[in-house]
Amino acid sequence: MSQPATHLVKPPGGEVVPHRRGRAYGAFPDAMARGTLSRQLVLRTTLLVAIVAIVLSAITSLGIYQIQMQQLDQRLISSAGRTQPTSTGRGDPFGFGGIGVRIYSKGTTGAYETAGTGDLSDEALAQLAALPDITAPATVHIKDLGAYRVVVHTDSNSGVKVTSVFGLPLTEVVNTMTRQLIMAALLTLASILLAFFAVRSVVVRSLRPLNRLAATAQAVSNLELDRGEVTVPRVAAEDANPTSEVGRVGQAFNHMLDNVEGALAVRQQSETKLRQFVADASHELRNPLASIRGYSELTRRSRDELPEPTQHALSRIESESDRMSTLVEDLLLLARLDSGPNLDITRTDLTEIIVNAVSDAQVAGRDHLWRLSLPDEPVEAMADSHRLHQVVVNLLANARTHTPAGTEVTTSLSREGQWAVVSIHDNGPGIAPEVLPTVFERFTRAEASRYRKSGEKSTGLGLAIVQAVVGAHGGMASVASVPGDTTFTVRIPLAD
Ligand SMILES: Nc1ncnc2c1ncn2[C@@H]1O[C@H](COP(=O)(O)OP(=O)(O)O)[C@@H](O)[C@H]1O
Ligand SMILES: [Mg+2]
Repeated sequence: MSQPATHLVKPPGGEVVPHRRGRAYGAFPDAMARGTLSRQLVLRTTLLVAIVAIVLSAITSLGIYQIQMQQLDQRLISSAGRTQPTSTGRGDPFGFGGIGVRIYSKGTTGAYETAGTGDLSDEALAQLAALPDITAPATVHIKDLGAYRVVVHTDSNSGVKVTSVFGLPLTEVVNTMTRQLIMAALLTLASILLAFFAVRSVVVRSLRPLNRLAATAQAVSNLELDRGEVTVPRVAAEDANPTSEVGRVGQAFNHMLDNVEGALAVRQQSETKLRQFVADASHELRNPLASIRGYSELTRRSRDELPEPTQHALSRIESESDRMSTLVEDLLLLARLDSGPNLDITRTDLTEIIVNAVSDAQVAGRDHLWRLSLPDEPVEAMADSHRLHQVVVNLLANARTHTPAGTEVTTSLSREGQWAVVSIHDNGPGIAPEVLPTVFERFTRAEASRYRKSGEKSTGLGLAIVQAVVGAHGGMASVASVPGDTTFTVRIPLAD
């Protein structure tokens, strides 16, 4: 057998369909999460500052290097012009550890003589003697001494090549540049860190109202707007200050919420009016209907004297006015339940209600089989006994009127956790699948109820009343139905 389809009816103000939760707003780590605006702003600004800082330090360092080299070269050229090379090799022609040396070498074999080599090793002298003319200072790595800027001038004097070499060490330039580069690196790092923290604090502070705005929007989207009076939350005044961009969004948002709340209030008002109208109309219809019923009943005694068609018409008037009275009573009850639960709540024993309702149903439906399944101990709920009785009566009446003779109807009562559960099962033909999903809605009836007996008052409001009453008690009504297996289940919170 296939699984019976189940349709739950939620109580008004009861459980809410869970909304898709957004990201948690407000906390900084979340705001910095991948892809958020604040994260992008912070990362991009920091990156920009880093690029600018690195480029600036590179340009500055290059400039300083060039100036240093120029100064060194100028000193070398002017000193070389003034100074005669010493014969002591690495003397001190410039006052601070430069070299000025004249090397005499014979032929091209590399054999040489000097006018005194001083501190310069033979290998260094050989290297220097091999140098070509260098008029514009150039960097040469002199053996054992390191990098020097040198100018070289060669002369030939009766077969003896005379090489005059002047040089200044690059050590000072290297030292200055090292200090400069370390400084530049530290400054770059400091500016990147500063930019990161400064931008982060500004961005976070200015986006915080946006997060609060998002939280408000989230709260609004979680509201149940479809019924009743609704109070819509607003963005706080300090977040709706039009002097900032975010504040303008907040202000626009509040205006929108004003609009929404206004519209909802108007809707609520017209709903209340409509409900009041239905209640008033039903109430006003009661008296004339009672008169019609009374008069048509009066004609019963003398009906035999009337012609056949008039007799039929009068009996139709009687039965239809009966049906209409039931309809009006049902409408009035629904209108009252709509405008607020207004129940007469007392501690109620459900066993008693069920026993009474089933014995009444037994009298009304002698061709059905009525069964009862009750627990030994009483099942008590805080409920309006009169309305709950009506719920059970409506369900039993359906089991009687929408099923053929011989149908078994089992009414049972049990406890399930905090619920008192009343279920009414019948093995009748079941509810048509096209009607099933909306069976608790007002005026839902199967197209042609094959088993409805003539004289039975079908309004299509019975189950709507069941749902409204059960909902007003904070309970749930549901149905599962396939041919041969129909169960209505009503859950009411147990009394504690
Ligand atoms: N036990 C049942 N078996 C078959 N059909 C049912 C049963 N209970 C309700 N229905 C269907 O649901 C419809 C709505 O029921 P209800 O709201 O009580 O209206 P009414 O009984 O006045 O027609 C009924 O018209 C009937 O078609
Ligand atoms: Mg009914």
